Amino acid sequence: MLSDVLVVTGGTPLTGEVRVRGAKNLVSKAMVAAVLGHTPSRMFDVPRIRDVEIVRGLLELHGVRVTDGDLDGELVFDPSNVERAGIDEINVHAGSSRIPILLCGPLLHRLGHAFIPDLGGCHIGPRPIDFHLEALRQFGAIVDKTPEGLHLSAPNGLHGIKFTLDYPSVGATEQILLTAVLAEGVTELANAAVEPEIVDLICVLQKMGAIIKVHTNRVIEIEGVSRLTGFTHRPIPDRIEAASWASAALATKGDIFVRGARQADMMTYLNVFRSIGGSYEVDDDPVGGGIRFWHPGGDLRPVVIETDVHPGFMTDWQQPLVVALTQANGLSVVHETVYENRFGYTHALNQMGATIQVYAECLGGADCRFGRRGFRHSAVIAGPAKLHAHDLVIPDLRAGFSHLIAALAAEGTSRVHGVDLINRGYEDFEAKLAGLGARTERPVTQAA
Ligand code: EPU
Repeated sequence: MLSDVLVVTGGTPLTGEVRVRGAKNLVSKAMVAAVLGHTPSRMFDVPRIRDVEIVRGLLELHGVRVTDGDLDGELVFDPSNVERAGIDEINVHAGSSRIPILLCGPLLHRLGHAFIPDLGGCHIGPRPIDFHLEALRQFGAIVDKTPEGLHLSAPNGLHGIKFTLDYPSVGATEQILLTAVLAEGVTELANAAVEPEIVDLICVLQKMGAIIKVHTNRVIEIEGVSRLTGFTHRPIPDRIEAASWASAALATKGDIFVRGARQADMMTYLNVFRSIGGSYEVDDDPVGGGIRFWHPGGDLRPVVIETDVHPGFMTDWQQPLVVALTQANGLSVVHETVYENRFGYTHALNQMGATIQVYAECLGGADCRFGRRGFRHSAVIAGPAKLHAHDLVIPDLRAGFSHLIAALAAEGTSRVHGVDLINRGYEDFEAKLAGLGARTERPVTQAA
């Protein structure tokens, strides 16, 4: 039996090629959208990651037939027999992902009832669902919170709403889109999130027959329709995974061609990458194109960045990049404005020799929701630091990848515990690492 530990010997520049497929944070939502259709849907380029498996399991529990298509990465969803699932069976998925909350609208439309287990996902703050529940109530849902999970019903159907999000939440925007498309009347959503993954979800829904207008100033208007069909879709590439490999190239002084990476979705990241002193080259070929990222030699420069909603610097880009910033010559500042608690991982980097201080103040940018509330959400990184090996425990998906990069950039051999978590969002990461010349090994444990 393989253990959940990766033994990583650092010091080798990562060089070679990796391929990214459909974005985790679109694919899982498009799978939920398939429930809304009355005919089968087909998606290409679906990555083999744990989050996809979890959503597949949940859909199958609700009677959706999910089959592998002829092509590698092709999935077909047949929702013609959507049915209620047993609470115990659904609860097997409790705590494993945040996607189940998005099934509320589709299940209410198809069955008039939904049961949602306790949510999971990464532990990066309290991650409330108040926006979701408030919107669903206004659509006409009755929400009953019980110790086993959420029960929702819609005895009088769901009707369009006028709703303003207090913060442009990705999940709440998706919740409202997935509910409004089949609700009676018009829904107007103000202060919506407009991440590329959301625009791609709108494309999926539009292919199904929805009428969705994206206005200026983050206003989205959805005209409810009475019936949707299935879709055929090739998702946008995973820009979080692409940036993770780019940061790995920089941190290890390597050179990685990320096949499938797309410039338009990564402009903000590319600007920062270049400011630090990294080099990149875009290959626009629709088949086999991507972006090559490399460390051109010489010193890296420090930067001041602030994470934000799109088109800002993504919160999921910061953790791998911070590892590269430990190698920059001077003080970098990262102000995290999306999640209040996303710097826990820096403790382990400090144990490896980095110098990172985390502050409660809003540093290097405008005041955010977390300023003066005591959340340690700004980091100052002093470099360059000589990283050395250490035993690491992976806390969450993105922080986990940054731990891996740190171990690969460090001198010596680190043991990275809890490495299976990375399979939630990075397809075949061990094979990809091996292909880039990383020295990693999974120890075999004796079965008890
Ligand atoms: N928020 C609320 N109330 C709500 C919903 C959100 O206060 O009802 C707050 C959150 O606490 C957070 C902020 O709004 O402070 C943003 O949260 P958002 O809803 O946008 O995040 P999410 O939909 O739960 C998705 C991605 C995250 C990514 C964020 C931001 C998925 C499955 N997850 O989460 O990705 O960081 O958007 O872009 O799409 C990851 O892939 O590792 C990951 C964590």
